[in-house]
Amino acid sequence: MSRNVLVTGGAGYIGSHVCVELMQQGHQVVVIDNLDNGSPVALQRVEQITGKRLRFIQADVRDQVAVQSALVEHGVDAVIHFAALKAVGESVARPLAYYDNNLNGAISLLRAMQGAGVTDLVFSSSATVYGDPRSNPISEDFPLRATNPYGRSKLMIEDMLRDLGAAEPNWNISILRYFNPAGAHPSGLIGEHPSGVPNNLMPYIAQTASGLRDCLAVFGDDYPTRDGTGVRDYIHVVDLARGHLSALARLAQHPGVIIHNLGTGTGYSVLEIVAAFERACGMPIPYRMESRRPGDIAECFADPSLARAELGWSAQLDLAAMCADSWRWQQANPQGYPDPS
Ligand code: NAD
Ligand code: WQD
Repeated sequence: MSRNVLVTGGAGYIGSHVCVELMQQGHQVVVIDNLDNGSPVALQRVEQITGKRLRFIQADVRDQVAVQSALVEHGVDAVIHFAALKAVGESVARPLAYYDNNLNGAISLLRAMQGAGVTDLVFSSSATVYGDPRSNPISEDFPLRATNPYGRSKLMIEDMLRDLGAAEPNWNISILRYFNPAGAHPSGLIGEHPSGVPNNLMPYIAQTASGLRDCLAVFGDDYPTRDGTGVRDYIHVVDLARGHLSALARLAQHPGVIIHNLGTGTGYSVLEIVAAFERACGMPIPYRMESRRPGDIAECFADPSLARAELGWSAQLDLAAMCADSWRWQQANPQGYPDPS
């Protein structure tokens, strides 16, 4: 079934990859993005990859009038909501900015959807809602306990969506909890270029390989893991994007509020990621050991079996593909997207 999908935050890293998959599957896409952390060039490249056109509206999701008129004007029948601020450390320093953008953005979007009679929603949540898990792998019924304002904003939105689904059973809501997105589109045309110094491991390594950074600081080598460094479940952004299409298809069957982990089920340590990237780029990645980063946990990886059973989705791309694709994007776009002017 072809659908008219509004993608909020579609000019960002994950949203742009989801636009590609949606358009390649024959869906019509409308993007709303305020370009706070996205680029219009990403959307041009989505069109280049797919050979199809999308509609772009530069607006803030907190502008309820703009969102509602976009929903009505373009006959939208489902929304995928990515638009958010996402840096954990920044959320500790600027909590009000995070609660304003993420919570008020979600409330405004939901009101606009109510006003337009659109009740199918896929929401970007995060494994950060599990906090420091009691064990691994993590399944969806684990206790939820976010430990920073960013994570709390995701958890509050999840709660809001559960309440909405209980009050108004005509809503169909998919909450997707991403583990650690990595990699880029295999075309090398779209990917992630964090503004400033990257917080996340993969882009930091990619920028080190390309000479933009001197040396990777490995945050802690005394965790109770196989080599002492932190273990995470890295998932290829194209696999992640495909998970959204599976969730959208499931929503069309009217399932109420559903929650799924999107992860591979395999954890890799920081040093294993460094070694895999070295194989992909054919160069050594200089690194040094530093003390633990405050707030980090030792280990975190998904139990992805519910998504396999209920969505018919599982990750197909391995760590070698994540590193190769990340490196291809980095080499082709060392400074990220060019200035659109
Ligand atoms: P991103 O910053 O690349 O993309 C977010 C996009 O939303 C940007 O283009 C930005 O300009 C836009 N945006 C932000 N606030 C907006 C607003 N108020 N109105 C309109 N547009 C707005 O981030 P991403 O990595 O693609 O993340 C997408 C979603 O996935 C976010 O909700 C994030 O919290 C979630 N998530 C990301 C990760 C990750 O590691 N990348 C992990 C788990 C969950
Ligand atoms: C991965 C591993 C670090 C950078 C964060 C958010 C989470 C989610 C994804 C949005 C850890 C180590 C990192 C570096 C390092 N985002 N590391 N040197 O912390 O698992 O998750 O992004 O929802 O909410 O918390 O990802 O890539 O920052 O770190 O040694 O320069 O790499 O200590 O073990 P994290 P990450």
